[in-house]
Amino acid sequence: MPGKLKIHVDQDKCQGHARCKSLAPELFELDEFGNAHEVGDGTVPAGLEDKAWLAQTNCPEIAIEVTEE
Ligand code: F3S
Repeated sequence: MPGKLKIHVDQDKCQGHARCKSLAPELFELDEFGNAHEVGDGTVPAGLEDKAWLAQTNCPEIAIEVTEE
């Protein structure tokens, strides 16, 4: 059985393109500066794994890390 995915937004790299938020609104939220943060502790709920990878590959700043636990 594959492990759970966890996402993390690197605040030094995020420039607020917000593609992550449009592609996976369940997984990302934007702060008052428009920078993205992972929802909760970043654990990806079952069924949203594809969205996590999609967001990662679509971030122009390569600011999203996806790790398998
Ligand atoms: Fe930031 Fe990339 Fe999302 S730059 S707002 S993590 S698409």
